[in-house]
Amino acid sequence: MYWFAFEAQGLLWELLLMGVVLDAACPPKCKCGQFEVNCSNVGLTTFPISLPLNTRRLDLNTNSIEEINSLELNLLGDLVYLDCSHNRIVEISRLHFIGMGKLVYLDLSYNRLRTISGTVFGPLTNLIILRLNNNQNLSEIDSGVFSTNVGLREINLSYNGLLYLNTTSLRNLEGLKSVYLAGNPWECQCTIGHLSEWMFENNETFPDEDNTLCTLPKSMAGIPVSMALIKIFDICRTPLGYFEYLFFVIVGFAIFISGIIVALLTGTLMVFFERQKMFKEDDEEDIKQYRSYKTAVRLTNINL
Ligand SMILES: *[C@@H]1O[C@H](CO)[C@@H](O)[C@H](O)[C@H]1NC(C)=O
Ligand SMILES: *[C@@H]1O[C@H](CO)[C@@H](O)[C@H](O)[C@H]1NC(C)=O
Ligand SMILES: *[C@@H]1O[C@H](CO)[C@@H](O)[C@H](O)[C@H]1NC(C)=O
Ligand SMILES: *[C@@H]1O[C@H](CO)[C@@H](O)[C@H](O)[C@H]1NC(C)=O
Ligand SMILES: *[C@@H]1O[C@H](CO)[C@@H](O)[C@H](O)[C@H]1NC(C)=O
Repeated sequence: MYWFAFEAQGLLWELLLMGVVLDAACPPKCKCGQFEVNCSNVGLTTFPISLPLNTRRLDLNTNSIEEINSLELNLLGDLVYLDCSHNRIVEISRLHFIGMGKLVYLDLSYNRLRTISGTVFGPLTNLIILRLNNNQNLSEIDSGVFSTNVGLREINLSYNGLLYLNTTSLRNLEGLKSVYLAGNPWECQCTIGHLSEWMFENNETFPDEDNTLCTLPKSMAGIPVSMALIKIFDICRTPLGYFEYLFFVIVGFAIFISGIIVALLTGTLMVFFERQKMFKEDDEEDIKQYRSYKTAVRLTNINL
């Protein structure tokens, strides 16, 4: 039964693939050149299918596409340039880009993306330009998401809904030349420190730095993110935890107590030695007196 289902599924796939291959043609209303399919602004509401398999450049911008067809896209193993800007794409996943090792340019700007999670761009090891700007509700980008895009030179994240960005994976990209971050509602709390520091030290990497401003908290609104760290430095030095406080209290108390003990001991010893000295002096005085007395007695005796 299972075996049959598996076989049937395989057959379906084969038929599907054959269909795609056989029907490969220029989608209606689009313009096709050698290795190029241009479906820019032709009123598409779904991802076009049956694209020529040798397509290298695919323009799908300015349509109403809501979903990328991963099966279709993954057949285009030679794709170098993909423009999906100005559409209604809500979600992207790793599945969409599995076969896209040759992709150099990816434009997903002006869509409705909300999050960029995990390993979405993992297969895009040759990517050079990535445009994710103007996704108004894009507020979350996972920390390691660009770690495999080692060729990345330009990334546009401007005019999204970002309050925070973990910079670790971007900072590790050695070829990265330009990062656009303006027009996001940056929240300049202590967590923005890493980004702020990076911007402050490498302003040539951030061409729109002057427009990359804090929005929150209110007291920081309008201040460039690159200056935020200086402003919040005092607040953001690692605050002490409960145990650190306890530690300092105990150490302080120990020092206090040992101080008292030392003082007591010193005092006692000083008093003791003073006494000793006094006794000694007294004794000497006594001896002197005794001697003079004896002498006096002796003298008296002689006189008598
Ligand atoms: C694609 O088509 C649009 C609209 O017809 C046109 O403006 C654009 O220049 C074309 N793009 C390319 C790369 O040919
Ligand atoms: C952003 O999210 C809000 C609230 O969910 C929604 O009303 C709005 O249409 C979204 N904007 C875009 C461009 O997706
Ligand atoms: C950023 O993400 C990395 C993992 O990619 C993590 O180790 C690091 O702690 C994060 N940094 C901050 C400030 O959260
Ligand atoms: C990045 O996006 C912003 C906002 O749309 C745009 O003004 C800017 O020209 C873009 N930068 C590049 C290099 O594409
Ligand atoms: C970077 O900062 C230096 C020193 O403040 C300044 O001279 C330079 O013009 C800045 N570069 C950019 C691209 O803003």
